Amino acid sequence: MAGSADRDWDAVTALARMPGAAAIRPLFDADPDRAGRFTHTACDLRVDLSKTSVTDAVRDALLALARARGVLAARDAMAEGERVNATEDRAVLHMALRGPRGAFRTGEEDASAAVHGTLDAMRAFCTRIRAEGRFTDVVNVGIGGSDLGPQMAVRALWREGMPMRAHFLSNVDGHAWEAMRHRLDPARTLVLVASKTFTTAETMANAHLLRDWLGESRRNQLVALSTNLKATAAFGVPGDQVFGFKDWVGGRFSLWSAVGLSIALACGWDVFAELLAGARSMDEHFLSAREEESLPLLMALTEVWHVNGLGYPTRAVLPYDERLARLPAHLQQVEMESLGKRVTMDGAPVARATGPVVFGEPGTNAQHSFMQLLHQGTTPVPADILLVARPDHGFEENHRQLLANGLAQAEALLRGRDAEEVRAEMEAAGMDAARVAALLPHRLFPGDRPSTTILVERLTPAVLGQIVALYEHKVFCLGALWGVDAFDQWGVELGKQLAGAILPELSPGAEPREHDGSTAALIAAIQRLRGG
Ligand code: F6P
Repeated sequence: MAGSADRDWDAVTALARMPGAAAIRPLFDADPDRAGRFTHTACDLRVDLSKTSVTDAVRDALLALARARGVLAARDAMAEGERVNATEDRAVLHMALRGPRGAFRTGEEDASAAVHGTLDAMRAFCTRIRAEGRFTDVVNVGIGGSDLGPQMAVRALWREGMPMRAHFLSNVDGHAWEAMRHRLDPARTLVLVASKTFTTAETMANAHLLRDWLGESRRNQLVALSTNLKATAAFGVPGDQVFGFKDWVGGRFSLWSAVGLSIALACGWDVFAELLAGARSMDEHFLSAREEESLPLLMALTEVWHVNGLGYPTRAVLPYDERLARLPAHLQQVEMESLGKRVTMDGAPVARATGPVVFGEPGTNAQHSFMQLLHQGTTPVPADILLVARPDHGFEENHRQLLANGLAQAEALLRGRDAEEVRAEMEAAGMDAARVAALLPHRLFPGDRPSTTILVERLTPAVLGQIVALYEHKVFCLGALWGVDAFDQWGVELGKQLAGAILPELSPGAEPREHDGSTAALIAAIQRLRGG
């Protein structure tokens, strides 16, 4: 298998080295039906991959690579509860979190039974809290996957009139709590401590702040969302206010689990249930589609073409919907924590680049920030552009402008602007020949810059679930293609350990340990500035 996969990698890179391999415009000229042939639909998503330089030959080579790498077999192993997260010796079953009863097992364990037990308890809790009408606000204390997913979803789905306001406290920086606490009344606030491990230093520091803020008499306003039931009990959370999940739920894939309780409390149970149902419909697509129809796989292969074929090391995520403002941040974790790996499953150095840097902002804000680089910078940055046809507000003109801008960015990246066009425009504006010559190079757009457009009719909870699950499965496919463990995150450990070691050195009068010269000098300077 490895030998054949190597040949298939070579076939992809050989195509990428061919002259004009990165050109996109000629592909449209040569094929009037290109948009149709490279647009795919699944669930409620329409994904247009035509504004990339993937040709039929490239797609065939990429699909051959996917077959040689056994991506669909790996998918099935994940769905069957095998321990595909090898370095942590764990199954990967976030699909069970939104799957039907009885659908997923791992070894002897009925994974779905555990999931539905928790969902039933969460639902009952939400119903009780709503009926009591005592709480107006919920604070989710958590970081990484215990923050980004729920925060992104609440930002996308919360509307005025929904059951509670949600707040997200993630950073250990006390300024975050300082800014938040003035808006909250402890008598009317539920506090969720979301932490898979219940040991994350930042979360525990904030959890202590919040526990103190609530005071001894309000312990029953403290809720824990965790796999570590011993630690939640030690922290003093009443047992019936702990919602558990299993170690086969990765932090960055946990918004569908008990970690999503803030979504259910703030937006209402039905919204949360619809979010899960949307993700489930994408799971069903992923589990049943053949390679050439699998949206997650096709998006993953397009990324392989960009990263490994054409050498583009970054990707932008541009949701043209303010409600999706935190989607780029969530995808940063989902993608970069999963795919930022330099060794394969068996510990050998990877033979080629893995996960790209992912960044983004909602459009149109991004246009007034970093889009300059996407249009005229030296290295192309493939962009995912998300468009929602129908808004949930009545400001039609604004929405038309928003859509026009999203479409225009993708068009501009593709078509660029050549010298003839730029010269004609400057001459028409009355510029003299010397000025035209001087400005011409600055005003050219190379074009042929790739983008993928994801179009939906409305941003419903189900559609949000589909979008997020699509990216999760794309990450899975990329992990299988690159042969890395997409479900561990050892790279975050060293910094955590060193922070723990430095912490006591920042106490007044503490003796510094041995560090590199820069770190030692910075610790000394901080001590001086803090009067320690
Ligand atoms: O530091 C990385 C990480 O382990 C993430 O993978 C995780 O989402 C985050 O920290 C929070 O972890 P926990 O939910 O255990 O507090």
